[in-house]
Amino acid sequence: MEKYFIRDAVVEDIEQIIKISSADNRWLPEKYQEIIEFNIPMIVICNRDNTTLVAFIVYIIFMDELRILNIGVDKFYTRNGLATRLLEITFSNAREQNCRYALLEVKTNNIDAINLYIKLGFVCLCIRKMYYEDRSNAYLMQLIL
Ligand SMILES: CC(C)(COP(=O)(O)OP(=O)(O)OC[C@H]1O[C@@H](n2cnc3c(N)ncnc32)[C@H](O)[C@@H]1OP(=O)(O)O)[C@@H](O)C(=O)NCCC(=O)NCCS
Repeated sequence: MEKYFIRDAVVEDIEQIIKISSADNRWLPEKYQEIIEFNIPMIVICNRDNTTLVAFIVYIIFMDELRILNIGVDKFYTRNGLATRLLEITFSNAREQNCRYALLEVKTNNIDAINLYIKLGFVCLCIRKMYYEDRSNAYLMQLIL
């Protein structure tokens, strides 16, 4: 992880975040603006000189629950452990705030992400039918922190 720089997101990152988001998990710019405006945690990984953004995660903590809202890695940088690193940082922040478990939804056909979450210890709690705008299904997954 030496060649990367991890920091909180700023407004100037939004364009690059949208660029690296896959069509499936791309949000509108206004949504990212709100996230920054309302101090919702969003962490990014940049290359060492801090010019190219290569990964991001958005999450919220409510009471003892951590919710992963979005995570994405530039497709040229995948399989380098970047998503794992972001999730580990997030888990550590959540544990410090006394969270007991993490929850997330993932499309049932998103094998890459499902493999990632299973590797980190998430288990599937249930299927949420027609959860997404395109009416596709989600798995609700949980990790005890
Ligand atoms: C899913 C995603 C976040 C993974 O990011 P990443 O940085 O490549 O993940 P990591 O390198 O930390 O991978 C950790 C493990 O996840 C699994 N995994 C990740 N990508 C995988 C793939 N393409 N195929 C199979 N397993 C995969 C593997 O078990 C991997 O461990 P390994 O490399 O030792 O085999 C990334 O592919 C992405 O941004 N996808 C598009 C956006 C998305 O789907 N977000 C999730 C929304 S719920």
